Amino acid sequence: MTQESPETATSGRTALVVFAHHRSDSLTAAAAARAADRLASAGFRVDLLDLHADGFDPRNRVADEPDYEDRDKTYSEEVHAHFRRVRDADVVVPVFPVWWFGLPALLKGWFDRVWNYGLAYGRRESRMAQKRMLWVGLAGLTEEDPNADLIVGLLDGTLRRGISEFCGVRGVHTAVLFDSEGQGLTGEAREHHYRGLLADVDTAVDKLVAG
Ligand SMILES: Cc1cc2nc3c(=O)[nH]c(=O)nc-3n(C[C@H](O)[C@H](O)[C@H](O)COP(=O)(O)O)c2cc1C
Repeated sequence: MTQESPETATSGRTALVVFAHHRSDSLTAAAAARAADRLASAGFRVDLLDLHADGFDPRNRVADEPDYEDRDKTYSEEVHAHFRRVRDADVVVPVFPVWWFGLPALLKGWFDRVWNYGLAYGRRESRMAQKRMLWVGLAGLTEEDPNADLIVGLLDGTLRRGISEFCGVRGVHTAVLFDSEGQGLTGEAREHHYRGLLADVDTAVDKLVAG
């Protein structure tokens, strides 16, 4: 699915917004849609990839194992089709619920299979060097929780350094939407909380677009 704002779609830039959630009415899906809208308003052509609806299979297979002797290995057609979407994007925005202080298996499997040797990493000239990324994680914990630092560590360590920068992406942003279940909130206070979380998505996208 692609979308763009007719008034502003002049930049020729593409944003890949990829998200993983089994519910189409989840906050994760809403945050991904919000990021997509904001990027379209900023002039991007948006490629919105809903891994669950797409039926992406996160299970690895022999055909998609890296061969470190052959960086030009032909992987499964599914992997090459997905990597073409990554390749064609100027910015990549993964949006996901934090599960067990990590990525949901579906999104993890997308990185495991698609961000493969010779495609996303393993070349002298990185194919990812001109891209920017924004990781948006939704966390049930509040920012004040003693374990909130584990979530910041996930985004700034494993995801920014371990995946993006390892692959050569240099402009990497992160955002955590804490208290994604609005613990203890009801009525207007709850609505206000969720409006604030989605406004945080706008702010994060604006920073990404600004560089
Ligand atoms: C399997 C599972 C594991 C979770 N693990 C964490 C966690 O490690 N840290 C955290 O802050 N929230 C955790 N949560 C809460 C989710 O992050 C939260 O439910 C989600 O962000 C809400 O967004 P959604 O409505 O789009 O699912 C977990 C939820 C599930 C279902």
